[in-house]
Amino acid sequence: MTRLSSNHLLGLKELTSEDINLIFETADNFKSILNRQIKKVPSLRDITIANVFFENSTRTKISFELAEKRLSADVVNFSSSSSSVSKGETLIDTVNNILSMKVDMVVMRHPAPGAALFLSKHVDAQIINAGDGTHEHPTQALLDAYSIREELGNIQGKKVVIVGDILHSRVALSNIYCLQKMGAEVAVCGPPTLIPKHIDALGVRVMHNLNEALAWCDVANMLRIQMERQQTKYFPSLREYSMQYGLTMDHLNTLDKEVTIMHPGPINRGVEVSSEVADSDQSIILNQVENGVAIRMAVLYLLAAQKES
Ligand code: CP
Repeated sequence: MTRLSSNHLLGLKELTSEDINLIFETADNFKSILNRQIKKVPSLRDITIANVFFENSTRTKISFELAEKRLSADVVNFSSSSSSVSKGETLIDTVNNILSMKVDMVVMRHPAPGAALFLSKHVDAQIINAGDGTHEHPTQALLDAYSIREELGNIQGKKVVIVGDILHSRVALSNIYCLQKMGAEVAVCGPPTLIPKHIDALGVRVMHNLNEALAWCDVANMLRIQMERQQTKYFPSLREYSMQYGLTMDHLNTLDKEVTIMHPGPINRGVEVSSEVADSDQSIILNQVENGVAIRMAVLYLLAAQKES
C-alpha cells in the first residue's frame, strides 16, 4: 500500500492498520534523513502549510514546524492570542482568510472536540488535527506507537498501560485506537474519578492500582494531570494523587522486569513521575519527541501525495 485511506488526518479512529504501517515505514525513511548532515529534502517545495494554534503548545508546534521546514514547505504560523480571534472572528472566517492567501494544508490545535472534523467539512484544504480538546491527538499517538515499535521491536502483543487523567486526555483515546489497531493490549489506570465510565466498551482493561498495572504491563505511558481542564475536584490534592499514582524508582526497582516509561509531555515532575524516573534509562520520553518530527514529516508527505494523484 502506498496511499493513505483519507485526505485529512483527523483522528486514529479513522485510520486503518495499513495506514499506520505506511506512516511508520515512511517515518523510518525520514528518520534516516534526519540523522544525515543535510536534513532537508525538497518533497513539499510547492506546498504552503498554516499552523493554526488556538491553544498553547511547545512540542507539537515546534515539531510540525520543523517537519514542514525539513520537507521544504512554505510555513505560516498563527496563534489565537496574537490574532483577530480576540476581536470576535469565527473559526471558519479565520481559516478562510488564511486559505485565501493560497494555503494547501492546515495543522490545527483547538480546545473544542470535533473542531478539526468541522473544519475539514467547511474549508478547501487538507486538515491535520494537532489536538482537539479532550477528543484526539493523532500525531502524538502515532509517535508514541512508533517509539514503542523502535524500543521493543514490535507493538503486536505488547501490554501498554496509560496512567493518570484519562478523562481529560486526547492522548489516551488516540493511543487506545492506535495501539489496538497495531495488536497491543491496552489498559488504563487511575482514580475512578479520572476514568471515563464506559471506557471498557473500547476493549481496554481498567485498573486502579499502580503496582498491579506495572506488574501487568511492558510499557507505562504516564499522563499529565490536566488541571486547566478540571472544573471540579477529582482527587483531594496533588500530593494525594502523587502518593497513589506518581511513578518512582521504588516502584520500578521492585519489578522483576524492565518497564518502558513514556510521557507525552509536558511533565509535572514529582506529580505523575519523579525526576529520577523521567531521566532514567527506562524512560524514552525524549525519543518520543525526536520521533515526532519523522512521524509528522511522514504524515505531511503522505497527505500531500494524496492531492497529487
Ligand atoms: N504532547 C503535546 O501535545 O505537547 P504540547 O502541548 O507541548 O504540544
